[in-house]
Amino acid sequence: MSTARYRIAPSVLSADFARLAEEVRAVVDAGADWIHFDVMDNHYVPNLTFGPMVCQALRRHTQAPIDVHLMVQPVDALALAFCQAGADLVSFHPDASTHVDRTLQLVRAEGKQTGLVFNPAAPLDLLEWVIDKVDLVLVMSVNPGFGGQSFIDSALRKVERARRIIEASGRDIRLEVDGGIKVDNIRRVADAGADTFVAGSAIFGQPDYKAVIDAMRRALA
Ligand code: DX5
Ligand code: ZN
Repeated sequence: MSTARYRIAPSVLSADFARLAEEVRAVVDAGADWIHFDVMDNHYVPNLTFGPMVCQALRRHTQAPIDVHLMVQPVDALALAFCQAGADLVSFHPDASTHVDRTLQLVRAEGKQTGLVFNPAAPLDLLEWVIDKVDLVLVMSVNPGFGGQSFIDSALRKVERARRIIEASGRDIRLEVDGGIKVDNIRRVADAGADTFVAGSAIFGQPDYKAVIDAMRRALA
């Protein structure tokens, strides 16, 4: 896999919310490929972040793809609202949706890309039945809800398995990993088969975003 295939998606969960547009601009200037946007509802996860209005406001400040990660239940109304708020890709947790296939269809009908997110203890089984409607598989390497947690190693085996499922499908599906990714473990995650990397605290927790992103790219090269 060539390094050009890799995408780095900083999570604004760890950015300064009072200066969100500046933070997004800074991280894109520093080499970010996507902006990862963690939506938490204090119901599916025990934390609360931002909704579609904030996404819509940010949309005016960046050309970078906005990768929305919904940690909400129910899913459908918010998935639609984020499509309309300028998201490029909308991912959700299948266990949070009553009808996963229908939610995927809703997002596709808005002309947006779809992602399915698998928690550390979640099996990948249902992928078999909906893989033709999925543009991205997101493997969680922490339990969703907070930035700054440690990487859960069993995610590596899940990434390997997800890679095999994607290859067998013959479809162009990205494989993203989210949680505890740092300069010193990104290579292992890539070796397991991931091509897209979310990093929140590793990037926004440092003063020099470019230094971190460059170091991640060197580790991937
Ligand atoms: C966790 C979020 C992650 C989080 C990652 O629920 O989905 O995107 O921001 O943060 P770090 O990189 O700090 O683990
Ligand atoms: Zn996330």
